[in-house]
Amino acid sequence: MAKVQIMDHPLIQHKINFIRREDVGSKDFRTAVSEIASLMCYEATRDLELQDVQIKTPICEMTGKELAGKKLAVIPILRAGLGMVDGMLSMIPAAKVGHIGLYRDPETLEPVEYYCKLPVDCEEREVFVVDPMLATGGSLVAAVTLLKQKGVKRMRAMCILAAPEGVKAFEKAHPDVDLYIGALDDHLNDHGYIVPGLGDAGDRIFGTK
Ligand code: URA
Repeated sequence: MAKVQIMDHPLIQHKINFIRREDVGSKDFRTAVSEIASLMCYEATRDLELQDVQIKTPICEMTGKELAGKKLAVIPILRAGLGMVDGMLSMIPAAKVGHIGLYRDPETLEPVEYYCKLPVDCEEREVFVVDPMLATGGSLVAAVTLLKQKGVKRMRAMCILAAPEGVKAFEKAHPDVDLYIGALDDHLNDHGYIVPGLGDAGDRIFGTK
């Protein structure tokens, strides 16, 4: 079964509480989303492999540790996922970035891919799929399905806020993919918004309506 981890670090919780406030404007919202993504990335990369390396300090030689060089990729789901990319890259600057765009078909209500551009060697990379809001789970489930079809074998998903409905749908569809969330909210309302939530993350990041 997938590991679902709520990242209850005080700094993450504090910043999530800040972006929930309706009077926070785009500039501050965007900055805080990016900071939350950095902190979540820091926590979600705890298990990255290290290797021994011989180095020389100004004093002596020593065996140090460095990342084993496993290649990473960050894949935001358009549009709101873009708000998490810079924060992720501040922690893992060598990661490549792919993009997945999905819209919901008004008739079937199923997510439909309209854009997908991935690093060429994506299937060899450890991929972090990012989307700030896990509501019904439709987009995240579809994005991970698409990445599996493209040959990606190692993936983790990261969302800042999640509804129980989305977590359940994701666990059911992808029990082999770990999910990191900043906070688990109460429910979805009739319009598909997370309650209490923070409103429309894409609109708040980009200042649209
Ligand atoms: N997407 C959002 O941006 N907000 C929600 O509450 C649900 C989905």
